[in-house]
Amino acid sequence: MYEKQSLMIPGPTNIPPRILRTLGKPAVGHRTPAFSQLLKEVSTQLKEIYQTQNEVLILTSSGTGAMEAAVANFVNAGDKVLVMENGNFGERWGKIATRYGADVEVISGPWGERANPEALRERIAQDTQHEIKAVFVTHNETSTGVLNDTKALRKALQDHPALFIVDAISGMAVSPLPVDEWKLDVVVSGSQKAYMLPPGLAFISVSPKAWEVCEKVTSPRFYFDLRAARKSLLEKSTTPYTPATSLIIALKETLEIMLEEGLENIYERHAFYRTLVRTAVKALGLEPLAGDEAASPAVTAIKKPGDIDVKAITKLMRDKHNVLIAGGQGKLQTEIFRIGHLGYVHVNDIVMTIAALERTLKELGMNIQLGQGVAAVQELLVKAGK
Ligand SMILES: Cc1ncc(COP(=O)(O)O)c(C=O)c1O
Repeated sequence: MYEKQSLMIPGPTNIPPRILRTLGKPAVGHRTPAFSQLLKEVSTQLKEIYQTQNEVLILTSSGTGAMEAAVANFVNAGDKVLVMENGNFGERWGKIATRYGADVEVISGPWGERANPEALRERIAQDTQHEIKAVFVTHNETSTGVLNDTKALRKALQDHPALFIVDAISGMAVSPLPVDEWKLDVVVSGSQKAYMLPPGLAFISVSPKAWEVCEKVTSPRFYFDLRAARKSLLEKSTTPYTPATSLIIALKETLEIMLEEGLENIYERHAFYRTLVRTAVKALGLEPLAGDEAASPAVTAIKKPGDIDVKAITKLMRDKHNVLIAGGQGKLQTEIFRIGHLGYVHVNDIVMTIAALERTLKELGMNIQLGQGVAAVQELLVKAGK
């Protein structure tokens, strides 16, 4: 009956009406001069978002497809690779690389804390023979609400020749990630996160050094052969296979919106959402999983209050209060719930989410004072003149 549901999960996110209108446009052909022109324009705009001169390729897939492409194109079976793992998505890097026959070494860290650059530095220092061919990291670990210190992790690699490969699926255009300045070889992101689009597109930047590796790698690849994507883009402004045309038309619109707002403002806005949500949940006596220094601007993971079932919280929020929030993932599945605050979010969405959470927790028997979380948010909003 009530059609509108608020997506406060860490992707897919709410979609701005301007984008929804664009998605309703008539279908187009993908081998036309107009579509080629569009592809050229969005590819250039994506470089601005990525802050890079590297080619940024558009794949019709979810984010994991781009992660698989990052393994298939830059890692040989038998290659030694390092994975910095402190959550579900770090684990995924390890799973994909293992499936492709790499010799995967995982540096695991506690879920809820940042990946440790010192641990990486030490391991790299031991590798005097340069056996490690790639290091995989997760910029924003969505499963735990942790923003890793990608700059420090990259610094830890120093001038070791291994490729530095980043999952920025939920972190791109949420928190700074200047690809060229930080010397990031391969960076993947996905449409359903800060880009405010539906799922279905993934983006991958490739440095000149990574292209050299790509040419020599012998892993099997077809749909995700990035050489084909690059050749099509550079020589004919097209894609090797049929792309998600409607999403690419919408991508143009969303990149306009994002660049109009400006990257710095986008980062600041997400950092403010983080403050609002964390202040509110703390005011309600709840405990965020990540400490302040590690907290993600895209998603806040909150520890299960007492013995209240996490599934009951997310179910009541969804079915009764019309707000979609997320449970935990992997080994934290029943231990945390998560509020997403990336992309098309208005501060009022946060006020409403906290209000719904208060009612939910009260309904589930938690002893909280209604309005305490909302009041904390309201105070911050008034103080910030919002
Ligand atoms: C950090 C991170 N990596 C990878 C993924 C997987 O992306 P997808 O579900 O689009 O394949 C996600 C999705 O939530 C993510 O947040």
